[in-house]
Amino acid sequence: MPKRKSRPQKRRRSSIIAFEMIRLDRTATEPLHEQLYRQIRDELKSGRFSDGSSRLPSSRTLATDRGISRSTVRLALSKLHAEGYLLSKPGSGTFVANLLPETFLTAGQAKTNQPIERPIRISDRVRAIPDRRVGNQFDLGATGAGPGVSLIASIPAVDEFPITVWERLRTQVLAKKGVNLLRYSSNRGDADLRKAIAAYLCDFRAARCHPDQIVIVAGMQQAMLLSAMAVLNPGEVAWIEDPCYQQARRVLTLAGVKIAPKPIDNQGIVIARSPKEPTPRIIYVTPSHQFPLGVTMSFQRRTAVLDLACAHNAFIFEDDYDAEFRFTGPPLPSLQGIDNASRVIYAGTVSKILCPALRLGYVVAPEPLVDSLVKIRSAMDQHSSPIDQATLARFITEGFFLSHIKRMRKIYAERRDFFIKQFNELLGDRFTLQVPEAGLNIVAWLKREEDFPMIKRITSDIGVRPSALSFFCIQAKLKPAFVFGFAAWTPTQIRESLIKLASALSTAARI
Ligand SMILES: Cc1ncc(COP(=O)(O)O)c(C=O)c1O
Repeated sequence: MPKRKSRPQKRRRSSIIAFEMIRLDRTATEPLHEQLYRQIRDELKSGRFSDGSSRLPSSRTLATDRGISRSTVRLALSKLHAEGYLLSKPGSGTFVANLLPETFLTAGQAKTNQPIERPIRISDRVRAIPDRRVGNQFDLGATGAGPGVSLIASIPAVDEFPITVWERLRTQVLAKKGVNLLRYSSNRGDADLRKAIAAYLCDFRAARCHPDQIVIVAGMQQAMLLSAMAVLNPGEVAWIEDPCYQQARRVLTLAGVKIAPKPIDNQGIVIARSPKEPTPRIIYVTPSHQFPLGVTMSFQRRTAVLDLACAHNAFIFEDDYDAEFRFTGPPLPSLQGIDNASRVIYAGTVSKILCPALRLGYVVAPEPLVDSLVKIRSAMDQHSSPIDQATLARFITEGFFLSHIKRMRKIYAERRDFFIKQFNELLGDRFTLQVPEAGLNIVAWLKREEDFPMIKRITSDIGVRPSALSFFCIQAKLKPAFVFGFAAWTPTQIRESLIKLASALSTAARI
């Protein structure tokens, strides 16, 4: 007899199998109960239901659904019981057995009997994407950040997202617009939301735009993909910052363009070009706050990039992902705002301001480009959730957006100051912090380059996982450094993680 566990067992939710695919043929010579037995057995043999939580419908339901008698059903089920496919749990019903008879029958069979599978042919497009993750490594998303305190870069404080307000507004828009929010909707995006975003951008990002220039998208990545697909043919050249946001590189590769990495100096992207070098069709930049180095593009460099784009009939993709979080002085105006030649495709996202899970962003496109972007979106996935778009429109027009930004700026400024102070105290002997004026990340340069492998190993062992700066580099050969995120965690959590890191490093150094 198996020992009973003293610990209370967690109740597992059971799901009822529908057996929708069963087809009974009344004209066949095979009796109905045999047909039913055979078809249920074949479904169970697929193994999809043998995790102990799949319940069979009652014999009455099965009989009614199939238009047969209950005795026919009982005959079929009793045979399945007898053969070990089913298990009765008094008071709960009939369940699929955890171990099906086939498990025993096939357990001893040699693997060599399996047919040799030919490798699946994968397109060059997929193979070109610079992304080595496999299987469940994708489950944590592109940043690799799960719950817990990891100090991974680029993670906003999602626990500060005003869920109650959001849910209230969501209920209100659903009550007001009802089924209109359940239909296919505009490929350009919700009209109220486009209006609200245009007003916000003109007011707070010094952009020059009207609502018809706005296209609502599923975040910055989609903004990049649409833009690259709209203005570049496969094989044409995109200039990209190096180091850069890893997703930008992946997206542009997916769009089939040729990536030409450009270094960063203390004014932003370096646009000097040898005469033989092909001119770009698009230039990807993060002028407000370069990712990951944190440089703000100087005014001089902004005008130089605009001039270059004008001279070569190229576009500039302005990724304005976290300009709202500037800690010294007011946010800088966008590049789009000083563009007099319709060269800038501006894009923003709610991933940092609110939360990444919403997958909402916006593009401000030069007018002649808008329809092309929308045409691609229509062919791709049509539109973002109308319910979320309408809720965001209300969130902005009722003032919650601005007050949330203001509140978060204060929280982030406090966390940033705290991080810098604690970091310098605990780890200042090993790293030099490069403190940026904006953003949710800080680069820490190693004082002794030879420490890099040891620090890399230890950070991954202890779960405090700043990214190595080299992860974001394409060709750039920079001194070793790590990019830390500080925004998503409380001061206590930050301190605990830094202490953990400092003591793990000291222990390793003593060994
Ligand atoms: C440079 C940059 N752009 C954009 C994003 C956000 O993109 P998305 O809107 O696709 O979440 C990030 C997130 O870390 C980023 O670092």
